[in-house]
Amino acid sequence: MPSETDTIAVAIDLMGNKDLPEIMAIEKDSFVSPWSERMFLDELKLKHSQRLVARLSQGKNSIIGGYLIFWIVADEAHLHNLAVKKEFRRQGLAQGFMNVMKEIAHQAGAKSQTLEVRESNTEAIKLYRKCGFVVKGKRPLYYTDTQEDALIMWAGV
Ligand SMILES: CC(C)(COP(=O)(O)OP(=O)(O)OC[C@H]1O[C@@H](n2cnc3c(N)ncnc32)[C@H](O)[C@@H]1OP(=O)(O)O)[C@@H](O)C(=O)NCCC(=O)NCCS
Repeated sequence: MPSETDTIAVAIDLMGNKDLPEIMAIEKDSFVSPWSERMFLDELKLKHSQRLVARLSQGKNSIIGGYLIFWIVADEAHLHNLAVKKEFRRQGLAQGFMNVMKEIAHQAGAKSQTLEVRESNTEAIKLYRKCGFVVKGKRPLYYTDTQEDALIMWAGV
């Protein structure tokens, strides 16, 4: 029978400077052109930026399973960064983050949500479609590292 210490508890919490070492490890493992630590530090100072982490606790141990950064500007929520640690993928964490973004956007009076995603990122596109996003347009050569287009996706709140 599983004991209490086998159970993993998930809590969505605010991101802090102390989380950056773990976040940087996930970031580097997740993206071709990861954000630098300086970019996260700058983001942590912005008033209109919402920064969340998923804390996974088992017994007394707690680690970061993923994070989400988005802005609410005027009546729009704009997703800026989302990643889940490889070993915890496909367990609904990203979908949970997207639900939280929608809820916060709703509470803030936003009317829509938008994001850019690499055309080749089929996993993320599937996730966003599952969360109600549709493709609204393309930004040609948006990603200068791979000369790739971005799909612009949009959803209501
Ligand atoms: C994209 C990413 C955030 C998804 O995180 P996740 O926690 O594994 O996603 P979820 O478990 O919440 O998946 C929700 C749905 O998204 C889709 N999806 C997610 N990962 C998928 C994959 N590898 N293959 C196919 N569909 C996938 C599925 O529809 C899934 O639902 P299902 O498991 O019931 O089929 C994660 O793969 C990641 O961190 N990738 C690298 C960083 C990145 O690309 N971020 C997005 C930048 S725009």
